[in-house]
Amino acid sequence: MRAIAVGAFRADPALVEIPKPEPEAGEVRVRIEYAALNPTDWQTAQGAPDDGPAPRVFPVVIGVDFAGRVDMIGSGENRFRVGDQVFGRVARPNATGCGTYCDYVSVPQDSAITVVPPGLPLRAAAALPSAGMTAAQILETSVVRGHESLLVIGAAGGVGSYLTQLASARDIRVIAAVRGPEHGRMTELGAAVTLDLTDRPLEAAVRERCPDGVDALVDLVSTDPDAFAAHAALVRPGGIALTTRGIAAEAALPADVTGIDFRLEPTPVLLDVLAAGAAEGVLRVPIDIELPLEKAPQALDRNRTGGARGKTVIVL
Ligand SMILES: NC(=O)c1ccc[n+]([C@@H]2O[C@H](COP(=O)([O-])OP(=O)(O)OC[C@H]3O[C@@H](n4cnc5c(N)ncnc54)[C@H](OP(=O)(O)O)[C@@H]3O)[C@@H](O)[C@H]2O)c1
Repeated sequence: MRAIAVGAFRADPALVEIPKPEPEAGEVRVRIEYAALNPTDWQTAQGAPDDGPAPRVFPVVIGVDFAGRVDMIGSGENRFRVGDQVFGRVARPNATGCGTYCDYVSVPQDSAITVVPPGLPLRAAAALPSAGMTAAQILETSVVRGHESLLVIGAAGGVGSYLTQLASARDIRVIAAVRGPEHGRMTELGAAVTLDLTDRPLEAAVRERCPDGVDALVDLVSTDPDAFAAHAALVRPGGIALTTRGIAAEAALPADVTGIDFRLEPTPVLLDVLAAGAAEGVLRVPIDIELPLEKAPQALDRNRTGGARGKTVIVL
């Protein structure tokens, strides 16, 4: 089968032919029709993903998000049938290099995989798992309740586009910090305020809008603990500062602000909730770019340099 893979960390991802995986007991094999790009994909190719340990077996097939049809069932109990339309996110256990930028993937039937509901195109389903579950789980775990303010730094990308929608649907006042003229798009997604950081520095813009500080910060971009700490200083006493980049523990945060190092724990239930919202049209799936498998290496390069406006979907 075709796959985009690396033979060593920091090698350039390339199109290769590898054997089709056979489903083991309790697994389903999925004929992938769409995969979606996440920063963890190029981070994994570099050997340092934000969201967990790097795989240890090469070649490493890039990608975690997928949508397609079940084409084979492993032995034993299974909640899926051949032909089911499914989507999900593969776990990246240390020992395997399995990914989703490829024609087939085998996944445990009890992992983060679920049936695509009627009315949701596979293409849209593929764009939900990592970014959608991250946004939903950030809201679940970060004690941001209604009528509060949430500052999202990096709000124009995959996670930010879902988080803005899900938070504003809960009456949370989203302050979307972006780079570029994204006011119209972020307002449509539910942002109460959009701050273009190419216009003026974040600190001054936030202080002007929220003189007493924001209730919560979700920083999707800072990799420098000092930058994260400076952003956390915009949070009111008793509030929270969450990062998806694994740097909260190293940051000198204000004593009265709770730091959270977020790490996604994917579940099929979260997938079901997101898929239902997308099928009903209450959750918009922000697909920015669609391209064929062989263009995936260039798309990974592009994402690494920034500029994401929603999701990139790869067609198998
Ligand atoms: N820990 C976990 O479990 C977990 C889970 C999911 C995601 N993550 C991490 O969270 C991060 C975001 O994920 P994503 O899927 O949303 O990525 P994405 O789709 O690539 O979006 C990132 C966004 O950040 C913007 N950005 C970059 N630098 C910025 C800056 N200084 N100020 C404002 N905006 C900036 C980018 O646009 P511009 O370049 O145009 O500004 C882009 O819109 C990634 O690093 C990912 O690895 C971690």
